[in-house]
Amino acid sequence: MDHFNYQNGELYAENLPLAEIAKEVGTPFYCYSTATLERHFNVFSKAFDGANALVCYAVKANSNLAVIKTLAKLGAGADVVSEGELRRALEAGIPANKIVFSGVGKKPHEMELALNAGILQFNVESEPEVRVLSEVATRLGKVAPIAFRVNPDVDAKTHAKISTGKAENKFGVPWQDVSRIYGEAATLPGIKIQGVDVHIGSQLTDLDPFNNAFMRVRELVDQLRKEGHEITQVDLGGGLGIPYDGTIPPAPENYGQVALQAMGNLGVQLIFEPGRLIVGNAGVLVSEVIYVKQGAERKFVILDAAMNDLIRPAMYDGYHHIDTIRQPNEADGTEMVDVVGPVCETGDTFAKGRELPPVSAGDLVAFRSAGAYGAVMASTYNTRPLVPEVLVNGDDFAVIRERPALEELLKQDKLPEWL
Ligand code: LLP
Repeated sequence: MDHFNYQNGELYAENLPLAEIAKEVGTPFYCYSTATLERHFNVFSKAFDGANALVCYAVKANSNLAVIKTLAKLGAGADVVSEGELRRALEAGIPANKIVFSGVGKKPHEMELALNAGILQFNVESEPEVRVLSEVATRLGKVAPIAFRVNPDVDAKTHAKISTGKAENKFGVPWQDVSRIYGEAATLPGIKIQGVDVHIGSQLTDLDPFNNAFMRVRELVDQLRKEGHEITQVDLGGGLGIPYDGTIPPAPENYGQVALQAMGNLGVQLIFEPGRLIVGNAGVLVSEVIYVKQGAERKFVILDAAMNDLIRPAMYDGYHHIDTIRQPNEADGTEMVDVVGPVCETGDTFAKGRELPPVSAGDLVAFRSAGAYGAVMASTYNTRPLVPEVLVNGDDFAVIRERPALEELLKQDKLPEWL
């Protein structure tokens, strides 16, 4: 459930008409709903009521400071994958001891920042990484608390580009080497083994792959304990899907049951890293129709948003439901159109053969489920400035990232002296 609904014949974000916001900030823009963010975080947390669980919001899904801070106020921790994300999480007020640091390519300066901040856990993905972490920690006179991300070789049954738990993927340490790698890491100075970590992919709509991975992790924890390691943390990653196209993924409550059943009474702190589930349906991308063009074979609705603003359709064939801001009238019917942006490549297509209520130039539309992996994946391709982000809270809204002036973009380039 979200808080983008039709009221008085037009689409609202909570108590505000999106068209009003569009008048003030211009289009395109991302708009997030505080009530929806809060609701999703609370529903997810509730699935682990009574258990020793920490929800570390995966900052990569939407890293705007205001979004992170909204979640920090509800008690969220953070899963970060770069110095930039770590700094955002800390600045938004997430305590360091609720931050886990994931990613296959952490650099020494990033490790240093995290060690100095005193984060909860490094999720280490390789032997070379743990050796560098040991060196950095020793140099700083610190001890790095670690879990290894293990690769359970399970098929997440999701899009190939966001599937991470198969043996062929770059993520985690190979299952057959886990025992040896833990054994060797235990001898390294500056390293404290405390956990096991797994994350098998994103936008999962089936609980079986989770169950398979979690059961394997459970066995692994028993085995590692027998081998003498103290395991106090188990990080089960993120990945629970959201309804983009009407397919209803499992509810957080059922996901919670699967996790809690698999982990039983291990006596560990469970860590979760949901991203999309928290922010996905808490955001829309609002765009204006520039032209409606009749091609030789198809009708094109040309928007002022493009693939550089929302890349999911071009990159993953992602489906985003499109609503007109003006509430459609049954009598108007629908027509089949291709919804495209102004960028000069055919991949700049948001939807092909989509049934939409008739629209014309100047009308506004909203891409639903755009709160996750939308603004964060945007680029300035075609020298299009990043679009602004707005956060609504009841009757109030604030611009939480401004639209940069084109001049700012241009002045980032420097001319060498010979030109
Ligand atoms: N933890 C780790 C280690 C991750 O790599 C990810 C996502 C998450 C947690 C959060 O997963 P979520 O709960 O959001 O599924 N850009 C793609 C999704 C990439 C996901 C990357 N990792 C998309 O737009 O579909």
